[in-house]
Amino acid sequence: MSGETPRNSVSGCGARVTLAAMPTPALPPSRHLVLGVTGGIAAYKCAELVRLWVRQGHTVDVVMTAAAKAFVGPATFQALSGRPVRDDLWRSETGGMDHIALSRGVDALIVAPASADFIGKLTHGLADDLLSTLCLARDCPLLIAPAMNRQMWENPATRRNVAQLRADGIAVLGPASGEQACGEVGEGRMLEPAEIVWRVESHLLPKPLAGRRVLITSGPTLEPIDPVRALVNRSSGRMGHAIAAAARDAGATVTLVSGPVAVPAPGDVQTIRVETAAEMLDAVEAQIAGTDIFIGVAAVADYRSEMQAPHKLKRDGGPLKLDLLPNPDILATVAGRANPPFCVGFAAESQDLLAHAEAKRRRKGLPLLVANDASAIGSEASRLHLLDDTGVHSLPPADKAVSGRWVVDHIAHLFNQGETP
Ligand code: CTP
Repeated sequence: MSGETPRNSVSGCGARVTLAAMPTPALPPSRHLVLGVTGGIAAYKCAELVRLWVRQGHTVDVVMTAAAKAFVGPATFQALSGRPVRDDLWRSETGGMDHIALSRGVDALIVAPASADFIGKLTHGLADDLLSTLCLARDCPLLIAPAMNRQMWENPATRRNVAQLRADGIAVLGPASGEQACGEVGEGRMLEPAEIVWRVESHLLPKPLAGRRVLITSGPTLEPIDPVRALVNRSSGRMGHAIAAAARDAGATVTLVSGPVAVPAPGDVQTIRVETAAEMLDAVEAQIAGTDIFIGVAAVADYRSEMQAPHKLKRDGGPLKLDLLPNPDILATVAGRANPPFCVGFAAESQDLLAHAEAKRRRKGLPLLVANDASAIGSEASRLHLLDDTGVHSLPPADKAVSGRWVVDHIAHLFNQGETP
């Protein structure tokens, strides 16, 4: 919902830039995770999963079923985790009760791969080995990454079981679709380890935007000159898509309006594809009702060619003159509505970054503008500066996925502050 009073107030006047204190953005915390490995060929990929978690500074305890040991040896997981692997309900390394103690004080229990058989056991609360007993006795979030043949995944028994697990509050990650170890093609592949790492972390993050609707523009717009040529701004769409994923992970319902980009659309985000600035504005206006937060990340082309030739223009050796017409300013249009959502702008500047960015924030009447150096366009990493009414908060250089989370944390903080009576 949008409030009754405009949220996009900018205090003070002039483009003075002050440096504001900002708590160092939180890095993903070190977590204590328990990985349950069941019997499936994807078990070999879990060696990589453990390696990724350990590299991020997490502590990982591995529990294996008897069937899992038919695919991978415990020594592999022991070496990678640096901790003893548990596989026996009746024999504990510590002399205590592993099926109780192992889930106490941990951040999450993840079963990957989760076989059809193990999913069936979980659904019915069976507890006849260490991992199934541990799942039943847990007091932490449980996530499963199913992996099985596509027919097993599509079997009504499996569908019923998975629906029941979801209803019981268990997070189901994947599965992915593609070529399977058995040679068949379809849904049932375990998600790749890096994707599991990302999904688990997303699941565990706080949800400061739960129940909120966020609308985001991303990527460039493309303004045709003739059927093969166009005017375009440089933008990969990586930052806009990372912001969309971060807002989703913060609990929001996210709609992304994206210009032409090669990056894949984030999962669980409604994505609307457009080409031109006019189409982007139409899509934004069609979605704006009920939006709480609007984030304009798109590099919208400021001009379009007046001439749009129906056929390819032929080179005649002489200069070509184009008349350019101004495009609508999508962000300013949204911010200028009667009851605007909380509006956030982005600005890439090639000189006097902070002064230009602050002037732009004031001109567009935005409570928050995110500035970055134009030389970083197209790169994997970014160094962002957040400009709001309290001054400039400079973030450390980071991968766009991480920067995106920091930006969304700051948006959620300002938005929720404005909502508090
Ligand atoms: N923006 C927009 N529609 C436009 C131009 C910009 O919605 N036609 C949004 C961008 O998505 C971004 C912000 O406005 O959030 C700033 O974009 P930028 O191109 O830096 O600003 P301009 O207003 O175009 O200023 P200039 O190009 O003169 O620097």
